Amino acid sequence: MAAAAILHPIIRRSKRNHALQFIHSIESTWKGHEDFAIWLVQKIQPKTVVDLGFDRGLSTIAFAYKNPGHVYGIDWFEEGTYAEKSFALDTAFRNIARAIRFNYAKNIHLIIGPFHEVSKTWNRKIDILHIDWAHTYRAAKFHFDNWQRYLRDEGVVLIHDILSCPNEVGRFFKELPFPKILFPDHGGLGVICSDKKLIEEIRTDWQL
Ligand SMILES: C[S@@+](CC[C@H](N)C(=O)[O-])C[C@H]1O[C@@H](n2cnc3c(N)ncnc32)[C@H](O)[C@@H]1O
Repeated sequence: MAAAAILHPIIRRSKRNHALQFIHSIESTWKGHEDFAIWLVQKIQPKTVVDLGFDRGLSTIAFAYKNPGHVYGIDWFEEGTYAEKSFALDTAFRNIARAIRFNYAKNIHLIIGPFHEVSKTWNRKIDILHIDWAHTYRAAKFHFDNWQRYLRDEGVVLIHDILSCPNEVGRFFKELPFPKILFPDHGGLGVICSDKKLIEEIRTDWQL
């Protein structure tokens, strides 16, 4: 019998708690949105999540938690000194390796490259697209336009820093002509989806 099959339910539960504790311990400016990411994945059971900007891995691991689908984290680490870039990449690999080793997450694929270059050869439909770091209006529009064409009809787009940059990415989010909702904390996480029912469910369940 496989080792996992003989685990007592209490041990399995505490293992899950370790997973959540670990996820919550990862340093990030995105901290605070992990629980919603985990909720959303359970809700829509995505086959494919694309996470634009994985940095030290928090959002990517949160999207991969208990997710049988595939999560693609994309980052270029183009900013900062060589030491800073290496540190971020090493930390991401360490966090993701740990999540996979302890079975907190699986099917994580890291792609090192600029978002727009990766989008040129992308060939999978996307259920959840997360855009983190497009702070200017122009960058937000550029990345949204490049990736939105791969989104499934009722796919969900999350955009971070809506409130940190209200006149830039915030204005872009405001202008988008889709049903939407905003988490008004931790920098502001905007959610858009053509499925109005899902947006209403988020509003109710998350008391927004
Ligand atoms: C705020 S961090 C992402 C945080 C991450 N979502 C988390 O949960 O901790 C933004 C990341 O996007 C990356 N990035 C910014 N612009 C990029 C681009 N055009 N192509 C690839 N990566 C980019 C940066 O290197 C940085 O690591």
